[in-house]
Amino acid sequence: MIELGLDWGIKLSFVQYIAKLPDGQASASSGVRPTETNGLFFEADPDTPPTPAGADAVYAFRGDVRFGGHFGMLYVRIADPWIVRRGNQAELTVLDPHEPKKAPRKRLVTFALSQPRSEGDIQIWDGTDVILTAEACSVFNDVYAAGERFESLVFAVHRGAAEGFGGCASGSGSTGCV
Ligand code: HEM
Repeated sequence: MIELGLDWGIKLSFVQYIAKLPDGQASASSGVRPTETNGLFFEADPDTPPTPAGADAVYAFRGDVRFGGHFGMLYVRIADPWIVRRGNQAELTVLDPHEPKKAPRKRLVTFALSQPRSEGDIQIWDGTDVILTAEACSVFNDVYAAGERFESLVFAVHRGAAEGFGGCASGSGSTGCV
């Protein structure tokens, strides 16, 4: 039985870098757990957000991953990833690492989507060519340039999940979107 959720290792070389630091720390909580294949599994969030104008679907996952090191100077938080699909392209946004309640969500990476495969009423999507956005370079202290390659990802959702919220497509504002 396929579990609904997002399997994504973020960036292996970054995880290895944290593991090598004398005071490196990594934690996974609130709906995400490490997998046997060096990945992280974020569970599906049953509270589906409205689909943004012009997008085909949004898939919400939950979980809070935090990396620390260098005596508190390094703090990277990847929390509650949402995937916004537009045709065969998609972007993944996360809570703002420093102001999760106030600041808008941050577009972390973009990627290409293959045709989904189905198992019963579950659709499984593969995301490849996962690259860092310019606006998220600061999350990693500007060590990576925009376009830096991140790990490929896989996510499983209910067929038709989060689709059909056409009320938002007109861009008519914050009401009437769901
Ligand atoms: C005292 C401050 C810091 C020092 C001395 C330091 C040092 C280093 C060194 C030596 C490397 C190369 C590691 C290797 O190739 O094995 C590295 C890589 C890196 N650092 Fe730091 N760093 C510092 C702070 C930070 C902070 C604050 C962040 C992020 C918030 C950060 C993010 C990274 C990243 C993303 C890499 C690349 C990892 C990879 O993919 O290979 N560093 N750093």
